[in-house]
Amino acid sequence: MKNINFDTSTNAQIIYNNQGNSILDLPRQENLKMFKSFGILLFRGFGVTYKEMKAFAEKFSSRFVLDKDRPIVDPNNRYITLVDPGMHYVSPHCENANSPFRPDVVWFCCGVPAAQGGETLFWDGVRVWEEMSGELKNLFISRKIRFLQKFPAVDWKRFLGTGASIADVKKTLDGIEGLSYRINEDQSVYIEYICSAVVKTKYGNQYAFANSLISEYKNPKAVVTFEDGSPIPLGVINQIQELMNRLAEVIDWESGDLVMIDNSRFLHGRRSFTDTRRRIFSLLSYLND
Ligand SMILES: [Fe+2]
Repeated sequence: MKNINFDTSTNAQIIYNNQGNSILDLPRQENLKMFKSFGILLFRGFGVTYKEMKAFAEKFSSRFVLDKDRPIVDPNNRYITLVDPGMHYVSPHCENANSPFRPDVVWFCCGVPAAQGGETLFWDGVRVWEEMSGELKNLFISRKIRFLQKFPAVDWKRFLGTGASIADVKKTLDGIEGLSYRINEDQSVYIEYICSAVVKTKYGNQYAFANSLISEYKNPKAVVTFEDGSPIPLGVINQIQELMNRLAEVIDWESGDLVMIDNSRFLHGRRSFTDTRRRIFSLLSYLND
């Protein structure tokens, strides 16, 4: 890759642009190799707009998915959204890992960084697992966790497409391991998803504590328990949070930055902020590898 420097002093591999290259000039194969090896890439100095993020992501993606909570920014590019609304701290999570519909890649690009705070945080789930106490490891190897969610019709229509029917819901949800569901009279759907908190990474087949346990535990609208419905003790959650606090890494945004995150291995979150001008755009996709 010509005129690109690599900085290996951080766990997020940073690819700097020194020569006015467009992000779209970067060689796909080389990028893909780095992505699979490092799991998180930060492209800096390319002045990436959200449209370029989409064009770049298309080179690597078989399809895009839409998150139910996020505002769409461009009616012609309906998969590009702003990140989670609000200005609060966001706990570590993998995207949509409370369901079987976990996308492979989370893409972020920065329009305007917050004047203060608002950094995106990330955690290498492989490292979190390695650093976890033997007691917690045993707990999460021996016991699965269960996520409960309710989707009003408007939410699953956003996920499946506005013309989607109950038959489409059934077709999507039937036969998925760990998933059971109930369709209510008002067409809302309850799903119950049972999975391990410890997963194998998609590239490298390593154990990773890469899940949405902490964020769902802290989400007043969500329910997460052990598989049998028994509560996850607060002491366990606190130990995980302490470990996460110790291992958090930071993306200190500059305008035009693009980040590509392996959602099978890395968790992400954010620091709180007060600057209403902050604009971080996001895309979710499945990799075309
Ligand atoms: Fe997220």
